[in-house]
Amino acid sequence: MFPKNLIAAENLNKENLYKTFNKAKYFEENYNIKEKFDDLIGYTIALAFFENSTRTRLSFELAAKRLSADTINFTASTSSLAKGESLADTIRTIDAMLVNMYVIRNQYAGVPNFVATITDNIIINAGDGKHEHPTQALLDAYTILNHYTKFEGLKVSIIGDILNSRVARSNIIMLRELGAEVRFFGPGTIMPQHINCWNVEIHNDIDEAINWSDAVIMLRLQNERMQSGLLPSMGEYIKFYQLTLEKFIKKDKIILMHPGPVNYGVELDHRATKLHNSMIDKQVTNGVFTRMAVMSLLAKNKNNL
Ligand code: CP
Repeated sequence: MFPKNLIAAENLNKENLYKTFNKAKYFEENYNIKEKFDDLIGYTIALAFFENSTRTRLSFELAAKRLSADTINFTASTSSLAKGESLADTIRTIDAMLVNMYVIRNQYAGVPNFVATITDNIIINAGDGKHEHPTQALLDAYTILNHYTKFEGLKVSIIGDILNSRVARSNIIMLRELGAEVRFFGPGTIMPQHINCWNVEIHNDIDEAINWSDAVIMLRLQNERMQSGLLPSMGEYIKFYQLTLEKFIKKDKIILMHPGPVNYGVELDHRATKLHNSMIDKQVTNGVFTRMAVMSLLAKNKNNL
């Protein structure tokens, strides 16, 4: 059975992950800008983004519209939150407008779970603090599947600011559920203190990571969630942790991924945009199909309950 909400990667078991990928493939193959799908006719979706976003917000909005839903946008800074209204009251107010689904991004971990205690409507987590970003992991996995056609035996390295990354947390759970092997690489000061609870191996240097991997997922330094003083200098970070063109092209069978936004010149060489095995733009496109799939399946499940 499909879950009621998508708040964390563990909400989707292997069977439901493949159900989502198959549905995303259907939308990818039948996407026609002149004709909408009718999966979400009669649905109103609140896009409640309390934190900045470009690709997640726009792809959820586009996905909802392609499925014939109506969307309403909520921006914290221009809402009555700024006048002292509580989050709970804000949700009850939006609920009173008869919405059916919330897509929530928030700077604090746990907000989508909290909202699920207030409303009976469908909740999708679009990124909550350092906790999770399950639809990013879904689109990353779908991109890997499209390229390699399977997960079993595949080796994926996640490189950079693991400590502050909700993408790393969702990806390690989802990719392992699918059968891939995951390793990390990054400065020790921005690795989670209790990394052993994941039982994950850490590469010794970036050359080793590239040599071992079928896919590398590069991460941005998430300064908005980072304590100051954790990195001695940007020059040192670039020297030891940046993925340069020279290092990357040494390996034949490998793909480059990044959830975005990319800070070119920091974690990635500017010239990486020209790599034929960069999936960064494909990830964005696949975000629309995977988000269409997950919204459609959650709505279908709710209608059948
Ligand atoms: N990958 C990602 O979440 O990007 P945005 O912050 O632009 O949505």
